Amino acid sequence: MIKDRVNQLLQERQRGFSLPGAFYVDDDMFEADLEAVFATDWLFAGSVAEIRGPGDYITMEIGRDSIVILRDREGEVRAFFNTCRHRGSRLCLHETGRANRIVCPYHQWVYELDGSLINARQMPEGFDRASHGLHPVHVEVICGLIYVCLAETPPSLEKFRKTVTPYIAPHQPDRTKVAFFSTIIEEANWKLVIDNNRECYHCAGNHPALLVTLVEFALPDDPAANATFKGLMDRSTARWDGLGLPHAPADGGTEFRCIRLPFNDDCLSFTMDGKPACNKLLADFTEPDLGSVRMFRVPNNWNHFLSDHILHFRVLPLSANRTAVKTTWLVHEDAVEGVDYDLKRLTEVWTETNDEDRILAENNHKGVRSRAYQPGPLAPSEFMLNNFADWYCTKMADWAGGPGGRRIAAE
Ligand code: FES
Ligand code: FE
Repeated sequence: MIKDRVNQLLQERQRGFSLPGAFYVDDDMFEADLEAVFATDWLFAGSVAEIRGPGDYITMEIGRDSIVILRDREGEVRAFFNTCRHRGSRLCLHETGRANRIVCPYHQWVYELDGSLINARQMPEGFDRASHGLHPVHVEVICGLIYVCLAETPPSLEKFRKTVTPYIAPHQPDRTKVAFFSTIIEEANWKLVIDNNRECYHCAGNHPALLVTLVEFALPDDPAANATFKGLMDRSTARWDGLGLPHAPADGGTEFRCIRLPFNDDCLSFTMDGKPACNKLLADFTEPDLGSVRMFRVPNNWNHFLSDHILHFRVLPLSANRTAVKTTWLVHEDAVEGVDYDLKRLTEVWTETNDEDRILAENNHKGVRSRAYQPGPLAPSEFMLNNFADWYCTKMADWAGGPGGRRIAAE
């Protein structure tokens, strides 16, 4: 039934328009999203900088599932369903933490960091511990970014890995530490949160702090760009070419996007005055004017890699109208708070921007719920929403078994 409904809505979808409203607000479409998207694709989980030592863990909620991602004793990154093999209790109850072993809070079954069950008190002689280890989840680490996949057989990440590595690796994310993270809950569907991130049409009217430094254009040859931007782009790319840093838009199709873009003239970082947020630059950079590598990957992740810090954004669906957005600020592992950086200065632009975006997404969700909503036309600067919708509709059609996605993918 639900698949029939998905196919019907896919038939109604018109490219160049926002999606039929049910995709954003209906509970059964949310269930379909969990199956078609979040149970099949790679999801951004976090950074290796969040789990530097053995037993360090982070958790992530994906609909009804919780996943724990940890560093084991051999230094490997592993992921497991955060569900006890006894009677199913949640195991790790915090967003982040450290555990020598994983001990279930209910009846204290004990798991090693490799997921094996090592103690199940009061269970009878002959109880087979070996077949009650934690259910593993696939993990891939790309330039310090951790991705997990709930599917039994995950899709390949190789094109993504090969393409983005030259852009990201020079910033050496594995030599960073977490300066701060925040998680906000937005009362909006996860796709509206992503849509809002995929365009800067809304920036001028809503993001005064961000626009001190951020250029509003998404492409070097943006048709809307003016001569000032073109001059800035030419000077910046000449400098980056000299440093051997890639900047041209990568070919990620509808799956991912990677590009290096400059900040506004005389601006080096996401701060209120455009000056660096951290005096100790990443890697061994001596040039602070590196703009930012903007990397987006469906379905739940965008990032900025600057000369002085890295920003990760992780979007996770909690229900049809609730979405968790986690932002993580990384600085050089040797940077010292209060000496090399001030936490407020480092975080204030995106803290403010996130809150502005939260309000926009929440208002958007409320409006879509109205009986008056109908899919509206996208502006040329919203081309990335079309890419996202194409990708999403293909995933949904593949899952529902209808013709829509294949047709769109072939266009
Ligand atoms: Fe975990 Fe009982 S549910 S030990
Ligand atoms: Fe925004």
